[in-house]
Amino acid sequence: MLCLPSNYIRVMVRTIYFAGGCFWGVEHFFKGVDGVVSTTPGYANGSTENPSYEQVYTDLTGHAETVQVRFDDSRVSLRQLVKLFFASIDPLAVNRQGHDEGTRYRTGIYYSDPADLPVLQEEFAALEARIGTAPATEIEPLAGFWPAEERHRDYLDKNPGGYCHLDLKVFRYLRLYQDLALMLGDEPDAVARQAQTAALLQERMGFFWTGFYRVLDGQLVLGPFQGPPACFRIARGRGVCGTAWQQQRTIVVSDVEAFPGHIACSSESRSEIVVPMYSRNEADGGLQVIGVLDIDSKSIGTFDDTDAVWLEMIAALV
Ligand code: SME
Repeated sequence: MLCLPSNYIRVMVRTIYFAGGCFWGVEHFFKGVDGVVSTTPGYANGSTENPSYEQVYTDLTGHAETVQVRFDDSRVSLRQLVKLFFASIDPLAVNRQGHDEGTRYRTGIYYSDPADLPVLQEEFAALEARIGTAPATEIEPLAGFWPAEERHRDYLDKNPGGYCHLDLKVFRYLRLYQDLALMLGDEPDAVARQAQTAALLQERMGFFWTGFYRVLDGQLVLGPFQGPPACFRIARGRGVCGTAWQQQRTIVVSDVEAFPGHIACSSESRSEIVVPMYSRNEADGGLQVIGVLDIDSKSIGTFDDTDAVWLEMIAALV
């Protein structure tokens, strides 16, 4: 008989609790994360025991709709789960996510192991630096978790197309991000990684033009791309790409005609997003822009903050 140490399972499987608005969508999101072993929707951090959905719905019990996430930390880290969580919610909304309002829809991360706190605080600080203000998400010790009624479990599997407050793009980006991470593996060649990324983005998201410009000799020079032919070189500070490089930030352009200095490589492009890519400077440890990921759409207003946050994660992976 094979004998495993009695703590074998406990060592591999860890637990964290995410409140991200309606638990139907949040559970569905985490079910799609590789390395998540199980998910349970429920009610956390309220003042009564074993509340019903109807009681929590009054907002009088103080519970937040929460999903217990058990994960294999040899396959996905707590840090990664928190990054994915922050990329799925609106971190600025107070007691509201999507169309849902009330303290039960507040966002929060609840931990049962105090050793998790530093990672949660670091990721909170990274998000704060990204959005320039403190997120509304609370980080608290878990103070009671009560699994929800059976009808709320696996809700969006049981009711495909049912109500989901999350932007559905999030589910496509999550799959793409995880597949890309597997596909890129430890391939060391930057051009190969960029080529594969452009191809996968184009195949999954169906954009008009997806590609990379690399910083070479003080200019942006065309790199691997998918779509129609494009301009070879862009100066720093010129066009959307050169501006994203100069300002070291993602730029979302809803209507290219309204962006002063937009460079029209194709007259068919109507909206655009440009995400800088960084490497760490060995001399002073600072970040320097080494290129940009540029995506164009034939429709106005294609890109928003959801695209920005996921494409930044994809650019970091590449
Ligand atoms: N529109 C970009 C130029 C690159 S193409 O979109 C491929 C810009 O204004 O920088």
